[in-house]
Amino acid sequence: MSVLTTVLTTALTPVLTTVLDPVPEDAARAPGRIARPRRYLMCPPDHFEVSYAINPWMNPDTAVDVALAGRQWEALRQTYLALGHEVELIAAEPGLPDMVFAANGGLVVDGRALGARFTYPERQAEGPAYLRWLSQAGLTSAVEAVHVNEGEGDFLVVGGTILAGTGFRTHPGAHAEVQELFGVPVISLTLVDPRYYHLDTALAVLDDSNVAYFPGAFSEGSREVLRRLFPDAVLAHDEDAAVLGLNAVSDGYNVVLASAAVELAEALRHRGYNPIGVDLSELLKAGGSAKCCTLEIRA
Ligand code: ARG
Repeated sequence: MSVLTTVLTTALTPVLTTVLDPVPEDAARAPGRIARPRRYLMCPPDHFEVSYAINPWMNPDTAVDVALAGRQWEALRQTYLALGHEVELIAAEPGLPDMVFAANGGLVVDGRALGARFTYPERQAEGPAYLRWLSQAGLTSAVEAVHVNEGEGDFLVVGGTILAGTGFRTHPGAHAEVQELFGVPVISLTLVDPRYYHLDTALAVLDDSNVAYFPGAFSEGSREVLRRLFPDAVLAHDEDAAVLGLNAVSDGYNVVLASAAVELAEALRHRGYNPIGVDLSELLKAGGSAKCCTLEIRA
């Protein structure tokens, strides 16, 4: 074998492997993808309805099947439990139909919690409700926020960095507040498409060093920041973003996402992740999917 052939063969091997190898079926067999058990907080959709519109997905004239929403939410909870994650519950409060979207309730990093301060009056009472829960969750601290922030809707932890969204909900002042409180570098990203009003509707954290996102949801500068930070990111198409496929929850290997996001699931599988589809059609009527229903408690 000539030197050139050797070089070419070596260079081509990873490419050919990606294309020709069968899809990995099992956690243990995906090199480098390690599932880490998580602690989640969820809120049952007991009082869920679409009675106001604060994002383009919501139409108060659309009928919501509350019983079906309950079954879909329960299937999501069971999915987490089957993956070995812990799921804690906060009681839903009457008059707070969006409280099911637990991700917005706060941000918990290294056992410290920052409460949410909601943009719209319709959701403002959720802030203190979630903070009460966080205050009794055995964390080191739980503090009230100064600036408007919608918790993990706009703050996503990627390893030792926090990505922070702004443009529709969370105030940029909250980005500095989070950096100061947690001592973790915060990268501000600007959202420009009203369908993707929270960062977690346009970007999914896959593990401690990579993400999937829909470039069209971000300002030009933010797209460039994402390209620099995550050159190997999984890029989602409009079709998958538009079913909130990026509103996904990953444990490092298993990625729980809307079952309608078919191409995104395929792309994740080719990268060695294990996509798990869930149907949350009723919650989608309020502009939420799997991640929205899930707050990670990083103790
Ligand atoms: N109807 C809710 C709102 O507009 C949906 C929140 C979805 N949550 C999320 N983490 N993206 O605020």
